[in-house]
Amino acid sequence: MFSVKDIRKDFPVLNRKVNGKPLIYFDNAATSQTPQQVIDVIVDYYSNYNANIHRGVHSLSQEATDAYEQARVKIQKHFNAAKPYEIILTSGTTHSINLVASGFSALLKKDDEVIVSALEHHSNIVPWQMLCERTGAVLKVIPMNDDGELIMSEYEKLLSVNTKLVFVNHISNALGTINPIEDITEKAHMVGAAVLIDGAQACPHIKPDVQALNVDFYVCSAHKICGPTGVGMLYGKEEWLNKLPPYQGGGEMIAEVSFEKTTYADLPHKFEAGTPNICGGIAFGAAIDYMNSIGLETIAAYEKELLVYATNKLLEIDGLKIYGNSENKTSVISFNVGNIHPYDLGTLLDKMAIAVRTGHHCAQPIMDYYKIPGTVRASFMFYNTKEEIDTFITSLKKAVMMLS
Ligand code: ALA
Repeated sequence: MFSVKDIRKDFPVLNRKVNGKPLIYFDNAATSQTPQQVIDVIVDYYSNYNANIHRGVHSLSQEATDAYEQARVKIQKHFNAAKPYEIILTSGTTHSINLVASGFSALLKKDDEVIVSALEHHSNIVPWQMLCERTGAVLKVIPMNDDGELIMSEYEKLLSVNTKLVFVNHISNALGTINPIEDITEKAHMVGAAVLIDGAQACPHIKPDVQALNVDFYVCSAHKICGPTGVGMLYGKEEWLNKLPPYQGGGEMIAEVSFEKTTYADLPHKFEAGTPNICGGIAFGAAIDYMNSIGLETIAAYEKELLVYATNKLLEIDGLKIYGNSENKTSVISFNVGNIHPYDLGTLLDKMAIAVRTGHHCAQPIMDYYKIPGTVRASFMFYNTKEEIDTFITSLKKAVMMLS
């Protein structure tokens, strides 16, 4: 039985005060907070078996290697990848996307086409622009509508035999829209294009099944799901990971090295050059255990309640406009009030101990679409409460009065 009161006891940071008032943390889409269960795993690693992996015959190295590889299997099972070696551990979503974009430099040619969506984070735009500059491929964009949804009929028109890759986020970080990725993937495959889904904002709310979705690549970061920063994953279908050349050269990614010729290691090591974030990988596995101990369906249902509750309360405020009104959205609310600059609202809310994100949310094309400099974004996790939303609304009204 889900009890938010009990859940909150797992998160030490939720007990702290900011500017003398109890913290209300609504910046979860940027970074989620860390439960004691994950903190304990990090402390245990550095207290008891900190060592390099895949390299030593000594006990500490073997213990660290076992824990790291067990984490990979946990991640594999969570995302239902067919093989553990289809999971590449990276420093996060951005690293994962750049790895794939770099690899495709070797596979694309001039006038090939790649498709992104208008709802992307800069991390799912810029690497593909760089890829197009390197190869002469052409970038096309699926447009959005006023509700912050992709216009699927326009997507269909963009697809052709020239389309080689399609990149879309599963959920928009700026608006919370859940994109129809099954449909997007199926249509891309019909023209023979590969599909990469940025799951950074989806993983806190749903449990993606990469085989059922039939995506070619899926990427996410641990810090969105109660894990540490600096670690994430790339899922790639084995056939695709075999086709892509290595991203970085270095130790651990080789089979044999000589000055004449180097051969590369098998998956996943081919893409894991150098000493990885070992503790981070192990803690990523612990974060997945933690999320699953509550259950992603339970989490999603509770967060939907928070979303509906907060949306209704916010809409009672004069002059408040919410950006992103899809029926299919997660617990992210982007808004502005009248002509007040989002930065000013965010600063005053922080004085009242409420953490929100303000600005363009690394999604400038969305802001350009709405012709605004940015928004205030409140994003909720399962440890937030309706009482916190009530305090947020009261504080927001005060801030609006001060700035009007
Ligand atoms: N991508 C993160 C966000 O949306 C940092 O805030």
